Amino acid sequence: MAPKDATNERGQFSSRFGFITAATGSAVGLGNIWGFPTQTASHGGGAFVLVYLVLAFLLAYPALMAELIIGRHTRHNMVGALPQLTTKPVLKIIGRATGLYGVVIASLILSFYAIVASWLMAQVPAALADISGQGQTASWLSQSSLLRDSLFCGLFSLLTASIVARGVKDGIERWSTRLMPALVLLMLALVATVLTLPGAMEGLRLYLVPNFSLITDPGLLTGAMGQAFFSLSLGVGTMLIYGSYVSKTDNLPLTGAYVALIDTGIAFLAGLLIIPAMFVAQHRGIEIYSSENTLIAGPDLILQTLPSLFNSLGSAGVIIGLVFFLLLTIAALTSSISMLEVPVTFVLEQFQLSRYRATWLVASIIFGLSLLILNNFEQLFAGVISLTTTYSQPLLGVMLCVFAGWVLHRDKLLREISAGFAGAENSLFWKIWPSYIRFICPLLIIFMFVQNARS
Ligand code: TRP
Repeated sequence: MAPKDATNERGQFSSRFGFITAATGSAVGLGNIWGFPTQTASHGGGAFVLVYLVLAFLLAYPALMAELIIGRHTRHNMVGALPQLTTKPVLKIIGRATGLYGVVIASLILSFYAIVASWLMAQVPAALADISGQGQTASWLSQSSLLRDSLFCGLFSLLTASIVARGVKDGIERWSTRLMPALVLLMLALVATVLTLPGAMEGLRLYLVPNFSLITDPGLLTGAMGQAFFSLSLGVGTMLIYGSYVSKTDNLPLTGAYVALIDTGIAFLAGLLIIPAMFVAQHRGIEIYSSENTLIAGPDLILQTLPSLFNSLGSAGVIIGLVFFLLLTIAALTSSISMLEVPVTFVLEQFQLSRYRATWLVASIIFGLSLLILNNFEQLFAGVISLTTTYSQPLLGVMLCVFAGWVLHRDKLLREISAGFAGAENSLFWKIWPSYIRFICPLLIIFMFVQNARS
């Protein structure tokens, strides 16, 4: 039973394990299994991996803590939470505007994420049709068309909404605790399989041995920063709202560290699968370098190179492909529910709608946006991704660090961190983190922006 306090009307995770699986479920998604290996491939391998690992802990983890702490302290969605940290009217307005911007960006992220997820999800029935000898159906399912994409996008949105409509404990937590361990097991099995195939070792070398001359490439730094923000679901209030469901008896810095570690670990594991798999494909005569002599990245990597590898492995390959795309769908689903939760809690808390109604209303609007993107794909798709992930997420990250570091009073900050963390005031975390998010995080993010704008 949840304690009878002010949080009683809101959902709450039932245990620390519940929170960790839900938050890692949010964090681990297409960003890890697709985005990270793809970026690694396009930025020359090991150098990107190294920079990413450093940024994940130096930049993304402190920003994650800012969100979790604001969330648990205010027990509100981002729009309600930020104004609550201050008594100054101007700051209240800025806080509210920042929160609203976060809600819009979260919704836009979901609108393109659902499209990508639908491409991958369609490969699951495609593999099943292939296994059962339905060649024509299989080829319709495996190739993109407006009809197929709209149908599967609708199906994916329906699945996402039906989990979110059930609430925190029965929906988000229950499904994340079921799906996440399944995902890790499937992935380990795939890594073990791929690493035994000829060609894998060459990929492993590219992945693990950094070429230090590439590290200064500005595209590499901003790419790694954007990837770290996206992967930890930062900036738009996802982690803030999950933080608002955490019990006051949990040690937040430790719990947040687990989430960052697991997320980074799974991205690393996905790279261990995909980069060697590309070289196995090359060993089998499949083209893995594009015309510009760089490794194939982008959608083609997962939707063409890997399926042709799976096909070349015969009937075992079909099963491996099935498992792989199932895994991607699961990972996408535990992330998409956390994105939908952002606009849903906003509508639910600001307009006093029931969770059920709020969910279906918001999910329908976002599905409408996905259809709009699908129908104007060339004009909208890439633009929405760069507006949301490259620009808005880090910018919102700066705002959240400023609110946690400058606006929230230091005493309150310490009290919040101390809840569930005895002796917090003498900890290394308290010695470093507050000034870190005041100065280093915002400056580092802005510096990378300027770099990016100039390059
Ligand atoms: N982190 C997830 C991934 O790696 C995606 C995600 C979930 C997300 N919630 C988010 C990204 C909020 C940005 C903002 O796939």
